[in-house]
Amino acid sequence: MRCFALTPEIITRPRRRLGWGALAALLLLPGCELRQAMYDQPRHKSLGASDFFADGRSARAPVPGTIAQGQLRLDPHFYEGKADTGLATTTPMPVTRELLERGRDRYDIYCSPCHDRTGRGNGMIVQRGMKRPPSFHQDRPPEAGVNLRTAPVGYFFDVMTNGFGAMYSYSSRIPPQDRWAIAAYVKTLQYSQHVPFDQLPLEDQRQLR
Ligand code: HEC
Repeated sequence: MRCFALTPEIITRPRRRLGWGALAALLLLPGCELRQAMYDQPRHKSLGASDFFADGRSARAPVPGTIAQGQLRLDPHFYEGKADTGLATTTPMPVTRELLERGRDRYDIYCSPCHDRTGRGNGMIVQRGMKRPPSFHQDRPPEAGVNLRTAPVGYFFDVMTNGFGAMYSYSSRIPPQDRWAIAAYVKTLQYSQHVPFDQLPLEDQRQLR
């Protein structure tokens, strides 16, 4: 609520300025001190200059080691895709149908424009001139980089989190939980292209015989 200061002018000429009724209402306003002390109080604008502190800044640096609320990241598996021995080979949460469906949903939105829905790297942006990403389904010799077919799930999490070469990082757009869902889905996509014959459903086996 905005408080009005009762300047001598308002008090001496109430009829013209406010009217007696308005003045009475003003006087009855609950909690209103009829002063502008809070409005006019001395204060600094955020990050403004100040001659009070030796460094000339009004803002104080946070105590070293301060962590903003909601930003405590104690779990390197969940936040960085890392395990004790290197990149995580498992997801930090159980792989459920729900997680994979979420992963497919997010993959189709965020990754398929370049990697295409099957992961072969021929998305619409690539067809219009972006560098073609490697297929998730082809073995790569060691000199060409990590073999994506056998790369641990943590590798896909890491690429999304930190970016890779021409591909930018997705950490600001995809929260960690969804990055894991996508990574799990990419592994599922890979499996879908290399299912061993005896693991196929019987009906599919019959069709292939
Ligand atoms: C705008 C296009 C684009 C989008 C969108 C995109 N990527 Fe990529 N991605 C690339 C390109 C280009 C490369 C190859 C980068 C290079 O080698 O310089 C790449 C490389 C990769 C690699 C392989 C890294 C390696 O070792 O060679 C993975 C894994 C990957 N992307 C996963 C993803 C996932 C998961 C998403 C969705 C969150 C995604 N990408 C979204 C363009 C994209």
